[in-house]
Amino acid sequence: MTKAGVVFVVLIVAITVKFRVSAEFTGPPGTDRDLEAIFKGRCAEYRTGRVNPHVQAAELKTKNCTLLWELFYNAFVYRDACNVTMEDYKEFVEEAAVEIPANRAVYWDGWDVYPVARSYANEARRASTLEFMMMGYMINGLVFCGQTEDPGINYEVCPGTDECDFAKGSVDAFWAAASIYFGSNGNGNVKFMVNSNRPGGAFQLENSYFAEFELKNMNSSKVSRVDIYIVTLIGEEPGDNCDSQSIKTLKSKLTERGINYRCVDQPDEVLHILCADNPTTDACAFSSSAVRLHPSNKIQLAALPFIYAAMFKSFQV
Ligand SMILES: *[C@@H]1O[C@H](CO)[C@@H](O)[C@H](O)[C@H]1NC(C)=O
Ligand SMILES: *[C@@H]1O[C@H](CO)[C@@H](O)[C@H](O)[C@H]1NC(C)=O
Ligand SMILES: *[C@@H]1O[C@H](CO)[C@@H](O)[C@H](O)[C@H]1NC(C)=O
Repeated sequence: MTKAGVVFVVLIVAITVKFRVSAEFTGPPGTDRDLEAIFKGRCAEYRTGRVNPHVQAAELKTKNCTLLWELFYNAFVYRDACNVTMEDYKEFVEEAAVEIPANRAVYWDGWDVYPVARSYANEARRASTLEFMMMGYMINGLVFCGQTEDPGINYEVCPGTDECDFAKGSVDAFWAAASIYFGSNGNGNVKFMVNSNRPGGAFQLENSYFAEFELKNMNSSKVSRVDIYIVTLIGEEPGDNCDSQSIKTLKSKLTERGINYRCVDQPDEVLHILCADNPTTDACAFSSSAVRLHPSNKIQLAALPFIYAAMFKSFQV
């Protein structure tokens, strides 16, 4: 090799190494190193019944965390990261399924309302989002993907958001399968939360896990009513409301499925939670708070005219 050739090769190697190093720091992360430990730990914790006190303890006792881990892991190990579909998670989802607490399910769509749904759920004490059902709790926030080469798991890089097709790939295919479970098993009076200012409309059919997997699988013999909660964050102008076209579409989908609904713009029970973080804003200056005085204060207020009258009289003499 000529001297120039050697320099060239060294340069290419240097560029490649630099590129790989930078890709490691800027690309999406690979599978969590402690995936198995986290999964099994969360599974064991969930089995205690303390994560979601509304799930039947007897049902939790039947769950085998070793078996669940095997079913979960086998859905994506030794497969290309994007070559995983919801069918691959069928067995895992069936085994991890628990009865959804009646009248407590909260569905949501769009990341802009997710923190609100979480606050409303209040750690599964008030309501249950999918992330507080057993399978959702175990997987929420984890990064995992496979590869066809050994060791079958990719610890370096996993596909980023939307890199695989809709509902495909190790992570998204799981959530699709889990959403079918959550949609088809919701029962009693359930809720659906959206942000009124969601870009593209509050309710969307395209690429929506709620529309595609939850709503489509809701069972009218189980769901007595869906409360549609349209939430506007404090400091924002309301966007869509119960009469907007996108919500009309949702209402007609529910009617088609024979499911009752009620729609509420900015429901008090959600607004008051939002106001805990924004107590001094106009939206949180509730007209009723002015009269919400302690009984003893009310008596003092009622006595004020007499006190003034007495003071006035004493000035006169
Ligand atoms: C749990 O599942 C594992 C793996 O399938 C199995 O070997 C074990 O016997 C099961 N334990 C119980 C208590 O059923
Ligand atoms: C996807 O996975 C299936 C099942 O393992 C396999 O038969 C198929 O060849 C894979 N497709 C691609 C494009 O890798
Ligand atoms: C809907 O729920 C009823 C009552 O639990 C059940 O018998 C029926 O099989 C369910 N339908 C579907 C499509 O799952």
